[in-house]
Amino acid sequence: MGILDGKSIIITGSGRGIGKAVAIACAKEGAKVGLTSRTLDELNTTKKEIENLGTGIKVIIKTADITNYNEVELAFKHFYDELGLLNGVIANAGVSRMGDTHDFDSNTFDNILKINILGVFNTFKAAYPYLKKDDKKNKARFIITGSEAYPQGIVKFAAYTASKYATVGLQRTLAAEYKRENITFNQILPTMVDTKLLRGRKAGDGNKPDSVMNPWELNDYYLFLLTDDANRVNDQLIMSSDINAVKKIISEAPTDKKENWEKFGDYLEEKAPKTFNNVKKIKKFIEFLLTR
Ligand SMILES: NC(=O)c1ccc[n+]([C@@H]2O[C@H](COP(=O)([O-])OP(=O)(O)OC[C@H]3O[C@@H](n4cnc5c(N)ncnc54)[C@H](OP(=O)(O)O)[C@@H]3O)[C@@H](O)[C@H]2O)c1
Repeated sequence: MGILDGKSIIITGSGRGIGKAVAIACAKEGAKVGLTSRTLDELNTTKKEIENLGTGIKVIIKTADITNYNEVELAFKHFYDELGLLNGVIANAGVSRMGDTHDFDSNTFDNILKINILGVFNTFKAAYPYLKKDDKKNKARFIITGSEAYPQGIVKFAAYTASKYATVGLQRTLAAEYKRENITFNQILPTMVDTKLLRGRKAGDGNKPDSVMNPWELNDYYLFLLTDDANRVNDQLIMSSDINAVKKIISEAPTDKKENWEKFGDYLEEKAPKTFNNVKKIKKFIEFLLTR
């Protein structure tokens, strides 16, 4: 039995990188998945890898440029026709480009904003009619892949940083605007991850610096937010730096301190008060990590 048995989950940007890892993880946990990005070959590869798991899980793929609303709308209609009402949508597609701001190409700046922020809006708008929002005890989940560019500024990444601040503003608005509907909105904010976006062709070469995460190390974040246990988790920003600090403390903690949040929370507060403060609102997630 998987923790997402029977759920229908859509992941944008799932041809490679973080989205691909999450798609495979969702399928392993029993979810039917819908995958989208612009590159058909990559979507087909993700689909094949899932089918090779041999679990008989349904995988639907549909290409769409996330900046083109008509294409995104068609993709979601297709997903709904094939998978039924949607339990979760992960708005993950994104791009980045480095450069001196005074010299940055305006079209590139515009394109980054279009993909990273208009793309999330397009995803929400197209998904909305098909979200399963009839059950207070099993709300639909809308999850955004943000970045720890928020709440800092990353030198030479002005467009990217601006776009990732914008996803936080968008989330705050959606959570307030739809608070009477059965949808939760949460965001995962990774630091550095070994994908094409960060390391280009070197992604996955086995030579990543230690400070860079593997894409699959984020799987638990998304899986948790899609589980029944996260039904009341809403409008949270989950920072990978906090979670990595918690994971380290879990790995070093004596067994009796890891039995549940009550015990672990006290231990964490003593060891790392700042991290405790940052994660206490997502104690359900920490509890989930204690079971992994
Ligand atoms: N890697 C990091 O260090 C890091 C850190 C923090 C946050 N993130 C965020 O993580 C998310 C996933 O990125 P990643 O690191 O996994 O990078 P990646 O390996 O380059 O994957 C990005 C995905 O987004 C898709 N995409 C890009 N432009 C698109 C468009 N116009 N329409 C539809 N799909 C599009 C790509 O497919 P196509 O190109 O085929 O369309 C690809 O599947 C992004 O939102 C990124 O900002 C990454």
